[in-house]
Amino acid sequence: MQLTEIDHIAIAVHDLEAAIAYYQKAFDAEVHHRETVDSDGVEEALIKVADSYIQLTAATRGDSPIAKFLQKRGEGLHHVGYRVDDCAEALTRMVAAGATPIDAAPRPGSRGTTVAFIHPKGSLGTLIELVQE
Ligand code: CO
Repeated sequence: MQLTEIDHIAIAVHDLEAAIAYYQKAFDAEVHHRETVDSDGVEEALIKVADSYIQLTAATRGDSPIAKFLQKRGEGLHHVGYRVDDCAEALTRMVAAGATPIDAAPRPGSRGTTVAFIHPKGSLGTLIELVQE
């Protein structure tokens, strides 16, 4: 089995502060980590759940993929992060299985991780992020 954990589920939100406040009120949730990833045009707040995260994600600029998603589909589930031991190996294996990569090779993600995204087309309509810690 290549998958070691559901690393995170990412939820696209318009207003990160409002989303954090809602999770605090609804679940008594605490933000474990916050990060702005300039290359992706996102700001994230990670809420730890056991050894996984809920990643509330807002756009920092209008042309980022999250901004386009929000314009088109509104707030909601954006992608699922699958934790793997070796991102490059998992990416090669997924492509061999017929997946369409968005990232041709692993690249730096938030929290110091190494990540690669897989297109929903060809992966059961699910945007997948392979995450190596
Ligand atoms: Co992610």
